[in-house]
Amino acid sequence: MYAATKQQLDSFERYHEYLKTRLDLGRELLWLTKDECIEAGPDIEETLEIVKSAMISHGKKEYEMPAKIGIHPYGDVFFHAMPAYVPTSTACGAKWIECFPRNPKQYNLPQTTGLQIMNDVVTGVPIAVMDCTWLTAMRTPAVTALAAEALHPHAKTFGMFGCGVQGINHVRYIVKTLKELEQIYIYDKFPECMDRLIETVKDEVEIPIIKADSIEEVAKRCDVMSSATFIVREPMSLVKKEWVRKGQTILPCDLNTFWAPEIALEADQYFVDSIDEHELFADMGYFPDGLPKIAAETGELLAGLKQGRSGADELIVCSNIGISVNDIAMGKAIMDKALEKGIGTKLKL
Ligand SMILES: NC(=O)c1ccc[n+]([C@@H]2O[C@H](COP(=O)([O-])OP(=O)(O)OC[C@H]3O[C@@H](n4cnc5c(N)ncnc54)[C@H](O)[C@@H]3O)[C@@H](O)[C@H]2O)c1
Repeated sequence: MYAATKQQLDSFERYHEYLKTRLDLGRELLWLTKDECIEAGPDIEETLEIVKSAMISHGKKEYEMPAKIGIHPYGDVFFHAMPAYVPTSTACGAKWIECFPRNPKQYNLPQTTGLQIMNDVVTGVPIAVMDCTWLTAMRTPAVTALAAEALHPHAKTFGMFGCGVQGINHVRYIVKTLKELEQIYIYDKFPECMDRLIETVKDEVEIPIIKADSIEEVAKRCDVMSSATFIVREPMSLVKKEWVRKGQTILPCDLNTFWAPEIALEADQYFVDSIDEHELFADMGYFPDGLPKIAAETGELLAGLKQGRSGADELIVCSNIGISVNDIAMGKAIMDKALEKGIGTKLKL
């Protein structure tokens, strides 16, 4: 449990007083659809700031965030409950998110859907409920982009495996932090997903985006790579160990599903967004070959508390499975903007 400072307790009270001017606290809450979350904001630059601040709080241990618990009605799907208390953002709440990889093909529905509840820190009453797919699509690439900046700021090439919701946003975010990028390689098992990515980002990303013919091509050509494809317990080993080399930085969002397990096990340094989360996933059977030795948490790198890359010849893997301090900080920012702009619907409790 984290004990708030006097300054933080004062900020909770101030925020509580502000909320009373916008909502009939305890009797109503703000409902925000996905479109309303998008309309409220924040934009990419603001998201990078919000996520950086939440990650630094995480690195400094100024938070409360139990590792996500889940239910699994089928072997290939999960629901995760993700509560967090982030005093530095005056925020607390919980995300309830589903990941059903079968959805796009079988049901014409997104793989990732869910809801987030925000609560008043002072009284605990719910103050907002919002769709959480957009904030998840925004905060996840922000973590990758910030970690890439910390671990490999002079990268010239970036490779993205998976060109869905996350893949598209990863390309939009990575150009904000890796300022020396010259080429972006993308790969998806469906060529139309690569075309859609290019079409979606064409007005925002000036760097050439190359549709790779194979996973091997991306793995061999890129300094920094990320993957956002699907998550299963048994690694698919689609990226072979012999295709990666010293000096690269690998930032999976999908645990070790996409990568040969030896890559992370033999990397010079293995970082994770949350040790607790990774140990929990390992307990659930997601690292059948063993959880690699963890050097530090991503938040500790961003807070400057631990060293990241210590040489140009290190192979680094930084696995960010998603932590709710970022969701709750993002939810707070969305809610604040919505309250300010009068966006959303007030619902009776
Ligand atoms: N780490 C996090 O914080 C976080 C957050 C959200 C989602 N995720 C994970 O990211 C992944 C992608 O999520 P999304 O919402 O972008 O899903 P999505 O369905 O929109 O995109 C997934 C893409 O991966 C592609 N793909 C699937 N198998 C592939 C393969 N073998 N080779 C190449 N491409 C392949 C699909 O064709 C699709 O375009 C999921 O595993 C999800 O659980 C992680």
